[in-house]
Order: sequence, then C-alpha cells, then structure tokens
Amino acid sequence: MTKPLEELSTPSLLMDVTRVRRNAERMSALAIDSGVSLRPHIKTHKCVEVARISTEGHSGALTASTIAEIEAFAAHGFDDFTYAVPIVPAKLPRIIRLLTSGTKVNLLTDDPDMPAELDKAARTAGVELDVFLEVDCGYHRCGVEPGSKEALQTVRGISDASGVNFAGILTHAGHSYHGKSEEEIAGIARAERDVMCEFADGLRSGGIPVPVVSIGSTPTMTHVDHLEGIDEIRPGNYVFFDAFQATLGSCGFEDCAITVLASVVHRSFSNKKVIVDAGSIALSKDRGPVGLDGGCGYGRVLDLAGEETGLRVGSLSQEHGEIEVEDQDLLDKLKVGTKVRILANHSCLTAAQFDHYDVMEADSIVGRWEIHRGW
Ligand SMILES: Cc1ncc(COP(=O)(O)O)c(C=O)c1O
Repeated sequence: MTKPLEELSTPSLLMDVTRVRRNAERMSALAIDSGVSLRPHIKTHKCVEVARISTEGHSGALTASTIAEIEAFAAHGFDDFTYAVPIVPAKLPRIIRLLTSGTKVNLLTDDPDMPAELDKAARTAGVELDVFLEVDCGYHRCGVEPGSKEALQTVRGISDASGVNFAGILTHAGHSYHGKSEEEIAGIARAERDVMCEFADGLRSGGIPVPVVSIGSTPTMTHVDHLEGIDEIRPGNYVFFDAFQATLGSCGFEDCAITVLASVVHRSFSNKKVIVDAGSIALSKDRGPVGLDGGCGYGRVLDLAGEETGLRVGSLSQEHGEIEVEDQDLLDKLKVGTKVRILANHSCLTAAQFDHYDVMEADSIVGRWEIHRGW
C-alpha cells in the first residue's frame, strides 16, 4: 500500500529506491566490465533489501563493519562476508559460531602477533580462519606498510599456521575523501590499485600465493581508470551517495538516494531562521565536504519534491537543526509544520541514526525496510 510523503512523521529517513537501483547497476557494470568480483560494503545501509539489489548478478558476497551486521544478514540468507575491521581475539567466539553454522567470514589483521592467536583459537575450535593482511595504501588508518618487516612477518605467520589460511591482501583508500580535485582523487585511485598490485607481485615472486587482491572506496571506484591486477572491489557508499560524494565528483546531486524528512518546528522573523526537528541524532555531525565547500553546513535543504531550496542546515544540536533564511518570501512559506527534505553530508552516518527506511518510489512511500544496527 502506498502513502504520500506528507503523511510520515518526522524525522523520517527516505530512500529513493529508483536511485538506489541505478547506483547499484552502475557499480555492478564497472565490476563486470573490469572482470573483478563485487563485494559491496553494507555499513552504508545495513539493510538486507539494499544488499539484494546491490549484489544482483554477483555472488552475494558482502563486506561488513560489525559482527551484528553479519549475524543479521546471515539470518536472511547471505553466507559470505569479509569483516573489514582488524580482528581482536575477544571477538572470535562469535565469528567461530558463524563459521560452524555455515557462514563464511574472512577476517583482517595487520599485526604480526595475531596469526599465532588466531591459529590457537582456530585449532581449539576445530575450524580454519581465512585472514587478509590489511595494507596501508596511504590512508594511514590501519594496515601495514607494504613490503615492511611487519607485513612480511604477518603474511609468513598466517601462511605457516595450520589453522589459518592466507586470504590475500586488502586495502581501503579512505584518504580519497580528502582529495581536493578529481585529478587528485584519480591519482589516489591509481595508487590504491598500483600499490596493491606491486605488493602482490612481490609476495608472489617470493613464493607466497596471493589468492585475492581487494581494494575499494566510493571515490576511488568512481574515478579509477582501470582495475587490471585487482580481484575484488568493496565500495559501499555508492549505493546511496550523499552531498559529500556529489561535491567530490563521485556522482551528481541527482544520484543521492537518501534524505531526511523534517518539519519546521520554529520560525523567527527577527533572526531570519527556522528550526527543524532533525538535529545531530538524525543527520550526524559529519562536516563532509567542508574542505571543498565551506558553506556546506550539515546538509542541503530540499523541498518535498527533492528540489534545492538553496538553504543549508547551518548548525545542529541534538534534535534541532538551524537553517538561516534571508529570503522573506521563503521565510513566509516555511510555516511551522512545513515539511522539507535534507540531503545530509554523509549517508552512512545518517542511515545509522535510524531503525528503518521509508522506501520511496515516484514520490510515494511504497515500503519500510529495516536497518540492522548493532556491534
Ligand atoms: C575497509 C573498508 N572497505 C571498504 C569501505 C567502503 O568505502 P566507501 O564507503 O567509500 O565505498 C570502507 C568504508 O569505510 C572500509 O572501511
């Protein structure tokens, strides 16, 4: 049963499913045309129905950021995951439960002490653990320097352990989010690919087979010139995009698929502003593209049809979003109770604030899809 947008309570999280399908098709085509496997990251949406759309025509393999995501998606039939945060021993019992119930979960490490710990846990539980070496291709968050002593020691530790299999090498070029131009992002994309291919070649020529070379972020996958030498890509954000990605040039604003429906709850003629009921716990406090667009605020204010009003959410408190409105005619129109849509800076963080999407098709709500949060 469909219902009009106006009937939703606020704040609500709207998902334009037509845009989701279009975004998914483009990334799917990139993977197929480049001859690489697509293992999309579900951290962006945490939603089973979106994962089904984004894996159509692919193996159904997924990347996850929490074990709770893996547990929830496994309960809905997905059975091949990479848990893309370095593993710590205390999390292994939940991973082992998943493995013994038939769910494949690849793990990550970048620490030379971990192979022995993983081996001990695997042998005690009677399972084998598939483990990637996380490589730093320039983001400097996690990962080893390719070719460093720690990198080789960790790979050898994994390869020598009977309870642990070397799954390959994996990186995420998160520094692409700080690129100042499309050329710079394209350079980061080439480096992400080339650093990993060179490292894989080095390991192989040293006699270590590298089953999978895995890379991927949305800015690099939308700017990369080719993917030769790569086996797998793991983009996530592309399925929704957001104001940050549009400003970076990963997409157009017309590709952004989620917006927060909010109501004007206060209007001040003397201060020329309105307050909406979407604050930081609806939009998130991510400043997104502020390095490229100093006036981006915390989101772009759209009308109910999704058209730009030119307004920005300038400041946030927990449940309040403040919007400066200089134009008197616009201020007259933004009466208390008026509904607007806000295109936030970072869709992954915005979606993680809600427990479901109101799924929108042709300006009506056609469904309600659950968001599986948790750690
Ligand atoms: C390890 C890892 N892989 C892949 C991704 C997907 O990146 P994006 O959302 O830019 O596509 C992320 C995102 O943070 C990540 O941390």
